[in-house]
Amino acid sequence: MQKNIVLVGFMGAGKSAVGQALAARLQRELVDLDEVIIERQGRPITRIFEESGEAYFRRLEKSLVKEISQRESLIIACGGGVVLDNDNVDNLKRKGKVIYLRASPEVILKRTKNYPHRPLLNVADQQKKIAELLSLREPFYALADFTVDTSDKTIAQVVEEILKLLKND
Ligand code: S3P
Repeated sequence: MQKNIVLVGFMGAGKSAVGQALAARLQRELVDLDEVIIERQGRPITRIFEESGEAYFRRLEKSLVKEISQRESLIIACGGGVVLDNDNVDNLKRKGKVIYLRASPEVILKRTKNYPHRPLLNVADQQKKIAELLSLREPFYALADFTVDTSDKTIAQVVEEILKLLKND
């Protein structure tokens, strides 16, 4: 069996874009967890948060992680908060290698500020919110098998770096 390649990291770290490139490069199927949730719910993440609350979203996310992580050979792009739940990390690691895509707070702000589809960053002081969430989450992202900094790299460079790490593993 081929292990799943699981991309975790903060909003704007490049999980979806790198996931697409990695899937194309390796001819593997990409599962973008947020996209699956949006499709199954028939409404965007902002509306799920507004209408049903974050806790409800986290329950959907957790059960999807459980379902998807039983499969093999996938590229899995996770939402930024997936690692906050230990069961999610355990499930994803069972058949996968977890890669933390890191980005600096400045880069995250630049990449996320014009995109309103992230309910957690729809606040007055985005910079402060990013700093707060990042410091809270850093220990959880550190549970990944590998870390790749995406701040000053192209998507293609990140893909190559991931492939190198996995080859030497
Ligand atoms: C979240 C990140 C989002 C999405 C939801 C919550 C988070 O995914 O799952 O808005 O808690 O960091 P992206 O990281 O793909 O933006």
